[in-house]
Amino acid sequence: MRMAANDDAADIQAIADRGFSSLAGACYLLLRIQNPALAKPWLRSFDIASLAQARTQRLPQVCQIAFTAAGLRALGTEVTPGAGFDPQFIDGIAGDERRSHQLGDEGANAPAHWHWGVGEQEPHILLVLLAANTAINSLAKDTCSAAVAAGCAVISANTPTTTTTPLGREPFGFADGVSQPDYDWGGTLTPGGARDRDYRNLLAMGELLLGYPNEYGFIGDYPTADELGRNGSYLVYRQLAQDVAGFWQWLARQAGDGAIALAERMVGRELDGAPLPGLQSATITGTNDPRNAFLFADDADGLVCPIGAHIRRVNPRSVDDPHGRHGFLRNLISALGFSGTAMHDAVASARFHRLSRRGRPYGPVIVPQAAMQGTGAGQETGLHFLCLNTNIARQFEFVQGAWVASAKFAGLAAEQDPLLGNRLPLAGAQPTDAFSYTDSGACPRTISGLPQFVTVRGGAYFFMPGLRGLAQLLADG
Ligand code: HEM
Repeated sequence: MRMAANDDAADIQAIADRGFSSLAGACYLLLRIQNPALAKPWLRSFDIASLAQARTQRLPQVCQIAFTAAGLRALGTEVTPGAGFDPQFIDGIAGDERRSHQLGDEGANAPAHWHWGVGEQEPHILLVLLAANTAINSLAKDTCSAAVAAGCAVISANTPTTTTTPLGREPFGFADGVSQPDYDWGGTLTPGGARDRDYRNLLAMGELLLGYPNEYGFIGDYPTADELGRNGSYLVYRQLAQDVAGFWQWLARQAGDGAIALAERMVGRELDGAPLPGLQSATITGTNDPRNAFLFADDADGLVCPIGAHIRRVNPRSVDDPHGRHGFLRNLISALGFSGTAMHDAVASARFHRLSRRGRPYGPVIVPQAAMQGTGAGQETGLHFLCLNTNIARQFEFVQGAWVASAKFAGLAAEQDPLLGNRLPLAGAQPTDAFSYTDSGACPRTISGLPQFVTVRGGAYFFMPGLRGLAQLLADG
């Protein structure tokens, strides 16, 4: 099959392939449709940037659009699994208590406390507006006024931090956006072969866009009527408040001069994004960035990068068979399940659970040393976490639920993601607030009593259509 040909590139929303870091201003506008007859023609008037445009032009501003299930219904679209929509998308991120529990959205993270995302604050539309930092405020203001005139209520106009330097630091101070999957735009990949015993960063297109073969080698469900879903994707948006002062003050109390080194172990990278020193470099298909040329297989016990570090949880860089490539007999023994452990299975095959992140930070920039002195306390900073995937259960929800929020990830006990955990005890009062690592003197250590550093403020699952699909959704009648 020919993949992402030119007419597909003209159909795909540009953000599927890039974050537009040269456009430093952004506004994530969350709208609720009150009068569809007014809203539809207004939405049709937007010039939604395509990938083909982004590949050939330097765009001074970019607008992208996505809809929740409630938003599609407000536009008159049938949103059912029978119509090919993802069941998780239909339920919504806060759709039921079981999902909230699985995602760690309990306690202070519970949807009942969110600023947006549920009840009357559930958005129908996400408009992503990107422009130069000098232009974004008036663009956002004009778009809000026009939205109201077009029968939409503004739920929230979320404004990421506008910077004069290239984007790329999250509020705790770490380089962000370092590791992203690459996609097989040329359609050359055959997933599932012996070569998948090596970790690769190149993924089948169907992990990013609907209507293409995925990492299982087949095309997953999508709305196929008139190809409504083709070249679309699902966008997960979570607003995550970060207690920057609390994070660095806690680290300073725990580790004194070693605060930064401990934070780097919790993240699994150095502040500037470099891999932790001691990880062996490796050649990886699908990336030329030396900051991504490493595996965890060479650090099986987590002596360099702790097993529970953020980047090791969200992408364990694991392969289909934890024993890697061997001769026929050993491969067979392993494939039949006569070797390996449950711990290996729990984190196997990272290729089925990758996410393309497109978020941006918000709030004032506070450097770690100032945060250790208490600067920033009381001011809200955080991350507008946006990611794209085609199967919400297998990608976002698996990463968030089974890897980030799980207190039993990879054979660990009593610890969640050291940045993101809600620290709530499990049933039976088993704690989840520990972090174990090996210190610079090769001594194993476990800290307990980690506070909650990140709190969910809002969230929603969106369908981001291709431009032909968008025209269908916005057609009259
Ligand atoms: C406030 C919240 C968060 C902070 C501060 C944070 C911070 C970071 C940092 C510093 C990195 C390393 C640099 C990079 O590769 O970009 C990273 C990587 C990553 N994060 Fe997060 N993150 C947050 C939330 C999340 C969430 C909610 C998810 C998914 C559920 C996630 C998934 C990832 C992934 C997939 C990577 C790339 C890992 C790799 O391929 O090596 N992050 N994050």
